[in-house]
Amino acid sequence: MSVPLVEIAPGYRVSRLIKGGWQTIGRGNDAIDDLLEFVRAGVTTFETADTYDGGEALMGALRGAARRLLPRELADWIKIHTRYTGPMSGTRPTPRDVADSVDRSLRDLGVERIDLLQMQWWNLEVPGLVETGLVLADLRAQGKVGLLGVCNLGVAQLEQLRDAGVPIATNQVLYSAIDRRAERKMVEYCRAHDIALLTFAPLAGGFLSELWRDAGDPVTSRAPYGKEYRALIEAGGGWPAFQRLLDAFAAVADRRDRSIASVALRWVLQCGPGQAVLFGASTPDRLPGALAVFDYALDDEDLATIDAAALIASPLDVGEIERAPDSVIMRAIRTHLD
Ligand SMILES: NC(=O)c1ccc[n+]([C@@H]2O[C@H](COP(=O)([O-])OP(=O)(O)OC[C@H]3O[C@@H](n4cnc5c(N)ncnc54)[C@H](OP(=O)(O)O)[C@@H]3O)[C@@H](O)[C@H]2O)c1
Repeated sequence: MSVPLVEIAPGYRVSRLIKGGWQTIGRGNDAIDDLLEFVRAGVTTFETADTYDGGEALMGALRGAARRLLPRELADWIKIHTRYTGPMSGTRPTPRDVADSVDRSLRDLGVERIDLLQMQWWNLEVPGLVETGLVLADLRAQGKVGLLGVCNLGVAQLEQLRDAGVPIATNQVLYSAIDRRAERKMVEYCRAHDIALLTFAPLAGGFLSELWRDAGDPVTSRAPYGKEYRALIEAGGGWPAFQRLLDAFAAVADRRDRSIASVALRWVLQCGPGQAVLFGASTPDRLPGALAVFDYALDDEDLATIDAAALIASPLDVGEIERAPDSVIMRAIRTHLD
């Protein structure tokens, strides 16, 4: 297998690269052949969410197709991670709401137990984070959930959940060269409490690639772009600072005869705090580029070149920029969840 496996909890191993589900939202079973290519290449762990339209059913179909079409020893490695998403407004969900949501996920995934269920709770003003964590812990005790994780929660929320006795195995957080907040206190906290970090968006949604080098700022040029990631670039010093960072990646890419995207992904795998990394790809055409990151390592000179162009380090914890009430990210999330 060309993608290493990593143990993120006792006895639970995932592929170091996890295929994100964002790019297959809305795709039906026509995506199965593409997804099987990822499995054949050793990307055996997949991410979806209760809010990804049709995403869990697609993953259920993938597992069935893999059992029929792939060797058993490969199909058996498949792990599927999904989410329980708390409300963006209003009152706390009742235990029944939460249990019904988990039952829907089980049915759509076609399993009796979810490998890893991650609680996503964007709006901390909605009450019930800890109570919902306890309901999920109870569903885990009933055998419906293998591991319980969270997404985008800071140290303060992890502490509340742990204090209440919610067994948190993972936290899924943003991490890339444009957003290094997880390096601040999250990595240390997770290490101290045996919580695995799964980091997502190593290419900042595609910004860390040749596509955006020497390109005009999409805010003014109106080219399509990920507003969430552009907001993080702004927090890190803006478009000119980002172009200097891309220049640094390009210098390393030239030296190594690789692409900027390859170096950006390699950098996250080599220097980032995540035990595994979720990456987005619409088709298997992205696989050769992604797999090539396991053939080489960045050396001290490469790392110094990239560090010298680092964006402004945010003093905030993971999730805090996103959660500002007027943030473009909260607006994007609301639109998506609506
Ligand atoms: N928990 C959360 O709150 C949360 C939020 C966002 C995302 N996620 C998860 O994290 C996963 C990864 O996030 P992401 O997809 O936004 O970020 P990403 O992995 O940084 O970026 C993926 C995008 O980069 C593009 N790309 C890949 N290689 C490229 C190259 N060589 N040149 C130019 N563009 C390239 C891909 O384009 P193509 O589409 O053309 O292949 C894809 O759209 C998602 O799929 C999702 O599962 C979680």
